[in-house]
Amino acid sequence: MRTAVRGAIAAVVVIVAVAVTPGAASAASCPWMNTSLSPNQRAQMLLGAMSLSDKIAMTYQQYPMDYHYGAAGYIPGNSSLCIPDLVFNDAGQGVGDAQTGTTAFPAPIAQAASWDPSLQYQFGKALGQEAWDKGIDVQLAPGIETDRVPMNGRNWEYMGEDPFLAGQGGAAETAGIQSQHVIVTLKHYIANSQETNRMTDSSDVDPRTLEEIYAPQYDTSIHQGGAMGVMCSYNRINSVYSCENPDTLKGMLDGQFGFTGFVVSDWGATHSTVASALNGLDIEMNVTPGTYYGPPLETAVQDGQVPMSTLNDMVLRILRAMFTVGVFDHPPAAQPQAYAAPASTPEHVALAREISEQGTVLLKNEGGVLPLSQPGKTIAVIGPAAGQTGAEDEYNGEGSGHIPEVGVVPVVSPLQGITTRAAADGDKVLYADGTATVDAVAAAKAADVAVVVVGDSESEGTDRSNLTLTGGLCTFEGCAPQTVDQNALISQVAAANPNTIVVLDTGGPVLMPWLGQIKGLLEAWYPGQEDGNALAALLFGDVDPSGHLTETFPASMSDLPIQSASQWPGVTESGDSVGPHSSYSEGLLVGYRWYQAKGITPLFPFGFGLSYTNFRFSNLTVTPNASGAVARFDVQNTGTRAGADVAQAYIGMPASTGEPPNQLKGFQKVSLEPGQTKAVSITLPETSFAWWSTAGGQWVVTPGSYTVSVGDSSANLPLRAVLSRAAAKLPAGAY
Ligand code: BGC
Repeated sequence: MRTAVRGAIAAVVVIVAVAVTPGAASAASCPWMNTSLSPNQRAQMLLGAMSLSDKIAMTYQQYPMDYHYGAAGYIPGNSSLCIPDLVFNDAGQGVGDAQTGTTAFPAPIAQAASWDPSLQYQFGKALGQEAWDKGIDVQLAPGIETDRVPMNGRNWEYMGEDPFLAGQGGAAETAGIQSQHVIVTLKHYIANSQETNRMTDSSDVDPRTLEEIYAPQYDTSIHQGGAMGVMCSYNRINSVYSCENPDTLKGMLDGQFGFTGFVVSDWGATHSTVASALNGLDIEMNVTPGTYYGPPLETAVQDGQVPMSTLNDMVLRILRAMFTVGVFDHPPAAQPQAYAAPASTPEHVALAREISEQGTVLLKNEGGVLPLSQPGKTIAVIGPAAGQTGAEDEYNGEGSGHIPEVGVVPVVSPLQGITTRAAADGDKVLYADGTATVDAVAAAKAADVAVVVVGDSESEGTDRSNLTLTGGLCTFEGCAPQTVDQNALISQVAAANPNTIVVLDTGGPVLMPWLGQIKGLLEAWYPGQEDGNALAALLFGDVDPSGHLTETFPASMSDLPIQSASQWPGVTESGDSVGPHSSYSEGLLVGYRWYQAKGITPLFPFGFGLSYTNFRFSNLTVTPNASGAVARFDVQNTGTRAGADVAQAYIGMPASTGEPPNQLKGFQKVSLEPGQTKAVSITLPETSFAWWSTAGGQWVVTPGSYTVSVGDSSANLPLRAVLSRAAAKLPAGAY
């Protein structure tokens, strides 16, 4: 639980001088250091050598938050047992908390908008490397919750509104991080859709919706990515706190997904000793150390309220995760040197730029206003986000996912990036920060093209009240009023210059009353430290835009799936004094599923993104096989520039299933030279055709006809094929 912004936390960091090295005891006295044994055997062997207090020490944070070299959490090692320290650190868009000298990557929503899991793997690997170099061995990432409420202050920390997409990204990032011997914690498990009343709200969600819309990405990140850590969330699920919820922990996570790693609570998300231990929480993290675990847990074990077998299983899970990921054999860099040394590398900075280039979405390009061409032109660069060189609000979001290196990381502002690139074309750049409309209009009038860079601020702890673009800084305490009316600024610039391009640095969708007045539009999200360089490469066409939306951008607030206060931010229910309830009454109709089911045309649909070239899809065949089906088709670049498109496959199920019209079940980013055609094949496992039967407690396939639709957005699916499936019941863990 955090009540202050990260910058303030950094100021109270206490550094401890002693770090445990696993080699302190000899390998002979620690037979579990034998790497020829399996992780499980090693964990079992070590568990057998632990006393009650050794075990208890593994299950909770004994020191205040940020105590150990600026990391959010710390469980000290035990040198006599060769157990290394466990150091937990935040990591949404780079190694955060109070670490310095790390790379500020684009936000997770931007990473996901690349639709490129191989790039997300590279991001995870870089993140893991930097963490390891900083002495960290547990990353508090990736965030993979489904963006249910577009106003949620943390959507920028997640990967969008579709569980399949978030699952592929989550698995890739997990594999990348853990390849560096750093354990992930998937978060925030589960149905953690809002920040308003986040410590007490109950997400009231029916089992089918929970399984189909909120759980698949966890299952995939565990099965496909090998995730060994999960963070249970602040909210309640159907009235029961997430960190003591038997249905979602023991039932889904262990029983259904076959998870063998540990569950750690969000900071302050533990509410009991016995119920938490019995229901599947392995580590308590809290602002006040040892509130429910530690001494209270020890007493509960001694009293027999928590059986020793339960404590053994908790510790075994922690040790198994550590052995599996390699924490024992490759403990991270030693302190205090690690804290002081920079971890960022030129390669990681280049990767930050590539992710921003690949994740930025071109939403409008009328009359070929982009890419900027014709050397010798005058470009007006305007707006509050244009000149940012490290101010906190436009290059990353706020809260624990924030990268704190303001003034340390060399952030390249849009103005700097454009100015540098413009020089190569002999272009002249004019600049107005937008605070004085008269200056902005004068610059726009004097230019051939105007680029207006605007942004918002989104924060952990605070939901946006609506989707109006507003630039006031948001923190845990709420949002400050904006100093520039950015919507008015765009309109005035557009009235002064017919070639106006808007760049959005926002964490999610915003309403765009000025859309009809402008010619070009890019969504750059929170772009990280290479902001201006990536933007300039896209504007000038050095790189083809290929990001696609991972969230629907609605035309108006009244079109949202959230139609009532009972859905969001929730209402008080009589008889429940703990907190309000948010009803997930929209059920499966989250994001594009809602718009398609209701026939509502959004401003920009899920999956949408333009390029400077054009693509054609043809020749779809779908071939059933024993494990599902394979969709094969061709994608051609019909234009004169190289570019990449995101091929997407959606499945429409028989009406009797009650499923939404179309659901994403496969995708592939395809890079093509001018005129080139590539054959693409997308595997559709049996789970693609399945829905969750609450009565049966499993995934089932209804016999009938299924439509496979292929194209490059949820609203542009030119190819269609129909196949039939036989009835099937899928085994647990099959997703
Ligand atoms: C956030 C988590 C974060 C934790 C530790 C909490 O406030 O919800 O996402 O990992 O703090 O910083």
